[in-house]
Amino acid sequence: MSVHILDAMAREGFESFVALHDRKSGLRAFLGVHDTTRGPAFGGVRRWEYRDERGALLDCLRLARAMTHKCALLDLPAGGAKVVVLDREGVDWEGAYRAIGRAVEGMGGRFYTGPDVGTGERELGWMSGQTAYVTDPGPAGPGELAASTAEGVFRGIESALTHLDGEPDWNQRSIAVQGLGAVGWNLAERLLGVGAKVYGTDVLPDRVDLAQERLGVEPLRPGEEVSMVCDVLAPCAMGGMLHDLSVERLKCRIVAGGANNVLAKPLHGDRMHERDILYVPDFVLNSGALIRGTIFHLEGRREPVGVVGERVGAAVRSVLDRARDAGEPPARTAATLAEERISAWRAEAGT
Ligand code: NAI
Repeated sequence: MSVHILDAMAREGFESFVALHDRKSGLRAFLGVHDTTRGPAFGGVRRWEYRDERGALLDCLRLARAMTHKCALLDLPAGGAKVVVLDREGVDWEGAYRAIGRAVEGMGGRFYTGPDVGTGERELGWMSGQTAYVTDPGPAGPGELAASTAEGVFRGIESALTHLDGEPDWNQRSIAVQGLGAVGWNLAERLLGVGAKVYGTDVLPDRVDLAQERLGVEPLRPGEEVSMVCDVLAPCAMGGMLHDLSVERLKCRIVAGGANNVLAKPLHGDRMHERDILYVPDFVLNSGALIRGTIFHLEGRREPVGVVGERVGAAVRSVLDRARDAGEPPARTAATLAEERISAWRAEAGT
């Protein structure tokens, strides 16, 4: 199926969408800027083995738009963007990331970029040689961003448990973390720190072994987490994990994790609501890195990770309370709220 890119941009209110190709390195990527009405756009660089160009393009659109939604819900003076890189053989990755850096620099501060799946300190280092509009690749960079995200998810889970039961009661809780990468690992550490029982899985067996050995995570085989009886399933890997089949297999009470675009389609959030499973919208929960990044770049200060987490916890509480009052799935409440705020910005700016 082909994608009519201009129609898709018009439907979603995108500002620009660029295809990047670098002859020398072999880079193939898309750079989408969704909204800059309230301030510059923020979004990381994702490198992934997409099945085809269409999949990469759609992911870029979805991820960039989700970034604007996060800005709207957290009331940040910024908007959303994303770079999506097609991971394939034979690419000179240093040259490729330098080319992305040059493209970002060419946007003159309209877009700030940073880490995402497939882009860590090494890649940020390559980009930072070309542009100032990128996360610092040093120790205060991606590690702190992932910690901010994990702290936000942790505090969001606390809000969700309190919403259902009046208190988090960590000692009595079991949580299954899908994906023990930067965010999942950090989250597991926090949950274990407050006495919760933590199960973990990853497609990389080494990560699971390491998490068992170093943190005390109970290992699960990949896929087992979906149908596990537990309080919380925390997806911290890739998007789209809740689809027609998986959503029927869930046996948890809450789904709340760091991964972006967890729902394959909005109707899967509705289905969880029907099944009495509390789904905490991903774009509220995982906004910790964005909060920290925008404050750092726009105000020149490093917001403490704990303060970032409190802000996310409060945003989750507000969305869950509104959803309860309206009797609707929280994902719908959050999306409506974000869209109303974005429309209000645009009306005020006359754009
Ligand atoms: P990462 O690449 O460090 O970790 C992802 C982990 O998930 C890897 O260990 C990978 O092997 C594993 N994985 C992939 N598919 C899996 C599957 N089907 N089942 C189990 N494990 C699987 O990435 P990071 O930074 O931890 O990000 C995780 C998610 O959180 C992504 O969706 C990302 O977009 C999102 N996110 C990350 C932020 C950050 O600050 N790093 C900010 C906001 C969202």
